[in-house]
Amino acid sequence: MTKTILITGAGSGIGRDSAFALAARGHRVIAATFDEAQAQALRAECLTRRQNLEVFQLDITSVSDREKVLPLTLDVLINNAGIGDSGSLAEVDLERVRKVFDVNLFGTLALTQLVLRGMIERERGTVLFVSSIAGRVPVPFLMPYSMSKFALSAAGAGLRAEMDQLGKNIQVALIEPGAFHTGFNQSMTERKYDWMQEHSYFSAVSAKMKKKEAREFALVEAKSTGAIVAQIVRAAEARRPKLRYVAPWIQGAAVRLARIFGV
Ligand SMILES: NC(=O)c1ccc[n+]([C@@H]2O[C@H](COP(=O)([O-])OP(=O)(O)OC[C@H]3O[C@@H](n4cnc5c(N)ncnc54)[C@H](OP(=O)(O)O)[C@@H]3O)[C@@H](O)[C@H]2O)c1
Repeated sequence: MTKTILITGAGSGIGRDSAFALAARGHRVIAATFDEAQAQALRAECLTRRQNLEVFQLDITSVSDREKVLPLTLDVLINNAGIGDSGSLAEVDLERVRKVFDVNLFGTLALTQLVLRGMIERERGTVLFVSSIAGRVPVPFLMPYSMSKFALSAAGAGLRAEMDQLGKNIQVALIEPGAFHTGFNQSMTERKYDWMQEHSYFSAVSAKMKKKEAREFALVEAKSTGAIVAQIVRAAEARRPKLRYVAPWIQGAAVRLARIFGV
């Protein structure tokens, strides 16, 4: 069945690739981008690819932008927009942490509440939250991000149970990507070095940390978003989605092991 699907943060990375994959399967895809420049670039890409997306600008932290979704009749909302930040928790400026939560948790939840109004009234709809495996195991020095994804995964699981109890046919699922090479991890990990090199408990080792981190991401990051896009498509099309969709599977397995051993 063809669905009307809104995806946030669709100007780049996993969001953009999912939007095109869903459109290729015949769905009506409404691709929301953070800013107007991304919207224009995405419209141009649609022409080059000869694929049809309905593109508009939506900053999920803006009340007036969020209200743009009210006239839409959506079958699926994919909450993909997100930002990252990093730094040691003992000293990170809490404003930075708050900013990450504003986007990854509060903006996402506020948009979801607006979309749920229509879905609950129509007794039909699916909400996907793009969280992270960093929301299942804490990642040292990426905790501003990791904590926000723990909160988002908890919110998704809790909302799913509440919607089940409501009995209005609202499906909720979590998408938990491992590391994918979209540039997201590089800009997130970089952010801490602008201050940790100069004034941090870890200044003396930050150069070493930086090299090690870059090596590790180069090793583990999947080069293509294909595996996680396939999971997003599966979850968006499912009549009764599972709670969690993880990719690459090897990273999902590593997270399960880490949790068993109490990391
Ligand atoms: N790549 C990974 O390894 C990985 C792993 C686990 C989870 N994830 C999650 O997957 C999702 C997509 O990430 P990605 O890797 O595809 O990175 P990405 O290309 O940076 O995608 C995130 C998108 O969200 C947009 N965005 C940021 N703030 C926003 C806001 N307030 N309102 C609307 N859009 C906003 C970004 O715009 P700007 O580019 O202008 O900031 C960007 O287009 C994120 O939720 C991320 O946390 C990624």
